[in-house]
Amino acid sequence: MNMLKKGELYYPSSTTRKKAWVKNKNIYQEANKDPVLFWEKLARELFWFEKWNKAFEHKAPYFKWFLGGKINITSNIFEKNPQGWEKIKKKTALIWEPEPTTEKPKKITYRELFSDVCRFANALKKLGVKKGDRVGIYLPMIPEVMVAMLACARIGVVHSVVFSAFSSNSLKVRLQDTEAKVLITADGYWRRGKIVDLKQSADEGVKETKVEKVIVVKRAGNNVSLDSQKDLWFHEIVKNEKDFCEAEPMDAEDTFFILYTSGSTGKPKGVVHTCGGYAVQAYWTGKWIFDFQGGDIFWCTSDPGWVTGHTYTVYSPLLNGITTLMFEGAPDWPKPDRWAQTIEKHKVNIFYTAPTAIRMFEKYGAALLKKYKFKNLRLLGSVGEPIDESSWLWYFTEVGKKRCPIVDTWWQTETGGILITSLPGLGPFKPAFAGLAFPGVQADIKNGNLVILPPFTPGMLRGIYKNPQKYEETYWSSYGKDVYFTSDGATRDKNGLIRIVGRVDDVLKVAGHRLTTGEMEDAINLHPNITESAVIGVSDEIKGEVPVAFIVPKENSQNLAQEVLAQIKKEIGPIALPKQVFVVDDLPKTRSGKIMRRILKKIISREDLGDLSTLANPESVEKIKLVVQKNQAGFIIALLNIIFITAGIAAIIIGLLWSTGVLEQIPGIFKH
Ligand code: WT7
Repeated sequence: MNMLKKGELYYPSSTTRKKAWVKNKNIYQEANKDPVLFWEKLARELFWFEKWNKAFEHKAPYFKWFLGGKINITSNIFEKNPQGWEKIKKKTALIWEPEPTTEKPKKITYRELFSDVCRFANALKKLGVKKGDRVGIYLPMIPEVMVAMLACARIGVVHSVVFSAFSSNSLKVRLQDTEAKVLITADGYWRRGKIVDLKQSADEGVKETKVEKVIVVKRAGNNVSLDSQKDLWFHEIVKNEKDFCEAEPMDAEDTFFILYTSGSTGKPKGVVHTCGGYAVQAYWTGKWIFDFQGGDIFWCTSDPGWVTGHTYTVYSPLLNGITTLMFEGAPDWPKPDRWAQTIEKHKVNIFYTAPTAIRMFEKYGAALLKKYKFKNLRLLGSVGEPIDESSWLWYFTEVGKKRCPIVDTWWQTETGGILITSLPGLGPFKPAFAGLAFPGVQADIKNGNLVILPPFTPGMLRGIYKNPQKYEETYWSSYGKDVYFTSDGATRDKNGLIRIVGRVDDVLKVAGHRLTTGEMEDAINLHPNITESAVIGVSDEIKGEVPVAFIVPKENSQNLAQEVLAQIKKEIGPIALPKQVFVVDDLPKTRSGKIMRRILKKIISREDLGDLSTLANPESVEKIKLVVQKNQAGFIIALLNIIFITAGIAAIIIGLLWSTGVLEQIPGIFKH
C-alpha cells in the first residue's frame, strides 16, 4: 500500500496479509454457497450450554437464528472465552483513560473485570431484578458502564443504554418505553475540563417512569442530592457481594438489549437484539475485520451509548480476548493532539473512529502530527458516515503513515455488527468505498438503494420494541417482506466494491450520530409560541451534516431563535443543536399540506428551485429566500464590521505611538 492516487485500489502489504485471519478470498465463495451453513460453522466456535436444533427460520418479515440454542455472552467473554480463560485472565481487558490529565489511567484485567461484573450482577439480583427485566444505563465513558452492561448480560437482564449527553427528556421517553425498574447512572463526569451533573438529568428523567431504584456511580465527586428511598451508591451495594455469579443460560432468541435510534418520525425506535446471533456476529466481525490477535490494544472511540460502543468498544474485543481502550473525554481536549498522545501512550494497534473526528484532526494541521510515528498502529477503521476521498487519504497518510489499511465499515444500529467492508488481509481498499459485503452477507443494490437479502445475518435486529408495525413499515415495505431496506443509497464499481452514498430518508448524520428531522421538529414545536417548523440537513466541513431549522412563530419575539436552541438542548441534547434558526412567516407546502423540505435545502445551498407551481403557497418561497439572504448578508456585514473596527483601532494605536515617537525606537521600523 504505497501509491497514492485518487480512485485507485490499494492492496494490503504482504506483512499485513500474512498476519491476517483471512488470507484467501475463496472464503466469499464458500460463504455464499450456503450462508446458513457458513454462520453455523462460525457459531460453533463459541460456547453454548446447549446447541441449536435449527439454524435459521424465516417467516417474513421475521427471522430467527440458532433456534433452541442456549448461550450467555459473558461466559464467552470470561470463563469460556474462545481464546482460553487461563490464557487471558491475567491480561488487561480494559484500559481506561480519564479526561483529566492529572488522573492516572486504570488497567483492569479480565479476572478483575469478571469479579466486578459478578459482584454487580449479584447486587442487581438482590434488588429483585430478574431475567427479562429491563434496566436503563445512563453512564458516561467510565469502566462501570462496561461492568453494568456485562452484569445485566450475566443474569439475562435486558440493558438499554442511553447516551449520557442525551437530555433528561430523551432519557425519560426511553425509560417509559422499556418500563425499566432500575436506572444505573453517575454523579457526574468530565467533559472539556468541566463536570457535567449527570445525576440531576437522571433525577428529571426518572420522573413519570416506573424506575424504582437509581444506582449512582461516584465518578466526579460533585454534590448530588440522594433520595433515601430510591437512590443507592454503586460502591456501597457491591461492597459485600460475592465475586462469582452463575451465568444465566439464555435462549438464542431471547432479547439481549434494546438500543434506541432515530427513526423516520419523531419517536425513537427501540431496536431489539437477541442473545445468540448478536454474540456470533460481534465475535467474528471483530476477529476478521480488525484482525484481533492476542496482544492487541484496540481503541474504538465510540461511547457505549451508541451501537458502535456496544459492539466494538465492549462486546467484540472482549469476546476476542484482547484489550479495549475507553477514553472518557473529548479527543482534542485539553490539547488538539490528545487522541494522538493516547494512541502513543497506550500503544494502540488498531484505531477505529468516525469521519467527523478524522476531519477535525485534519483541520488542526499535519504539523501537529510530525512528532508522532504511531509505530504500533497497524490498522485503521472508519464508521458512521461516508468518508470522503480526501479525508481517507489524509487518514491513510498522516495517521496510518501509508502503512495501515483502512477498513471503512458500513453498518447500522439495526444490523448489530459490521456488514460491509473489505477485509484487511485481502482488500481491495478504495477511498470512499466501504468495499465488499462480509462473508455470509447477501447485500444488493436495488434502484440505487442498499438492501440485505435472506438469510440476513444472525446479529440483525429482530424487531422494534413494542412496535411491530413500525418494524414492518420501516424495513420490509419498500421491496417486499423478504428484502431488508437499509435506507441508504449506494453504488457499486466495476470491481464490485460498494460505496455508501448516504441516507435516503429524513435521517441526518450529524458528526456520525443519527438524528431525524422529525424528532427535532417535535422538540421545537413544543415551544408555546411556535406554530410549525421544518428542519433540514446542510453539509458541514467537519460534521458532515448539520441541522438548520425554519420556524413559524405565532407572534414574533426577539429571542425566539435562542429559545428554540434551548428547547432542542432540553428535549434532545446538545448534539442536535441547529447551526442556524430562521424565523419565517410560512413554510412551502404541497396542496396536501406536506412541508417541502427539499425546497428549503435548495434555498440554503442557492440552487435552482425548479418548478414551484405544484406548491399550495409558492409565494412563501420568495419570503424565505429574503430571510436567508438577509441572514447570510448579515453575517458578511458583521464580519466586515469586525475587520473595519480592528483596522480602525490598529490605526489609532499606530497613530498614537507615532506621535509619541515610540515606534522610532524599535529597530527596523520607521528608521530613516
Ligand atoms: C447509518 C447508521 C454503524 C454504526 C454507527 C452508526 C451511516 C454507517 C457508514 C459507512 C457510510 C455509513 C449509514 C447508516 N453509515 N457507517 N462506513 N459509510 N455511511 O449507526 O447511528 O444506526 O447509523 O450510518 O447511513 O445507515 P447508526
